[in-house]
Amino acid sequence: MRTYKTAIIGAGTIAKVHARTLHENKRTEFAAIADIDLQRAADLAAPYGARAYGDYRMMIKEERPEIAIITLPHHLHKEAAIFCMEQGCHILLEKPMALNTGECSEINAAAGKYGVRASVGHMQHFFAANIKAKEIVESGRLGRLVSVHDKRHHPYFLPERPGWFLDKSRSGGGVVINLGSHSIDKIQWITGTRMTKAKASLTYWGERGDVEGSGSLFMQTSSGVPVTVSLCGYNNVSVNETELLFTGGQLKIAGAQALWLGAYDRPYEPVQIGEHAEPFAAQWNKMLDDVEGGGEETDISGYYGQSVCAAVDAIYRSHETGLEQIVEAFYPGAYARQ
Ligand SMILES: NC(=O)c1ccc[n+]([C@@H]2O[C@H](COP(=O)([O-])OP(=O)(O)OC[C@H]3O[C@@H](n4cnc5c(N)ncnc54)[C@H](O)[C@@H]3O)[C@@H](O)[C@H]2O)c1
Repeated sequence: MRTYKTAIIGAGTIAKVHARTLHENKRTEFAAIADIDLQRAADLAAPYGARAYGDYRMMIKEERPEIAIITLPHHLHKEAAIFCMEQGCHILLEKPMALNTGECSEINAAAGKYGVRASVGHMQHFFAANIKAKEIVESGRLGRLVSVHDKRHHPYFLPERPGWFLDKSRSGGGVVINLGSHSIDKIQWITGTRMTKAKASLTYWGERGDVEGSGSLFMQTSSGVPVTVSLCGYNNVSVNETELLFTGGQLKIAGAQALWLGAYDRPYEPVQIGEHAEPFAAQWNKMLDDVEGGGEETDISGYYGQSVCAAVDAIYRSHETGLEQIVEAFYPGAYARQ
């Protein structure tokens, strides 16, 4: 079995999950981890016998990994991605791919130039409830999809959140770019479409920082289905739910594991979703399969990641202008494919 030498850039919250995933994967040699806070890198590397660096450029040059996972603040995604690709490294970027569509374009162009994969960790694709929901949508058994309604409410301004998330210049924004990119991805992926239009109204009433704390979004998919998304990062009850209404019934997804199906004569009942691999493990295996498979575009590709950022950009533009915005199509046939 071929193994892939891999390094992680950034040793924060989500890197802990990636580190365990790499360690447990038989196709992976988990070589090293870099963080500007060397002690943090060392603490995370030690249990896995990986090496720690305080400078990711030095790590990439010395270790020569085949794949790098980038788990940095959003404003650093592009520069780290392009550096790694210049060095011949495939990359898996944490979501969102970058601060905006323009940066995503640069990353995708660099991947083409250096002949490596730029992939994005859109892990909603690996949640058991979403996989089952996608299967039901594709089967057509509930009829035509009428609309999608997503709610993601979660306190966003808690003291434990690292400061960069609340600084627009480093994060690109608040609940829209961070939580909303999961919602957009989930809906696009389950319905096999892309967002094409967005109208949005945001508030900026957080106790700290300069990012938005709520977003009421109205979008449309490339198959013409209307989508509403409510994002709220203030002190409300936490909710993570998506309802899909069809001509012959409806689905409700709650978090990663729970899916219900109902209809007018039948209250919601749980759907058996079966056994699925842990999402980060499944995502990593998908990355390795894509690297092995070569040039094919897949649903964790940089182009897919760019489609999510393009919808996020349209949402911010809509709030600023007060007008509905078209989501930028960024490669020929982007919507025709669906
Ligand atoms: N998939 C998910 O569900 C999920 C969950 C959480 C975070 N994320 C994403 O993961 C990424 C990281 O988020 P996080 O919560 O782990 O953030 P974090 O703040 O916990 O970690 C970021 C790390 O980057 C380090 N860093 C900053 N500048 C650096 C530099 N120049 N060189 C090296 N290291 C540097 C910081 O010291 C920190 O340890 C973001 O893109 C975020 O949106 C995804």
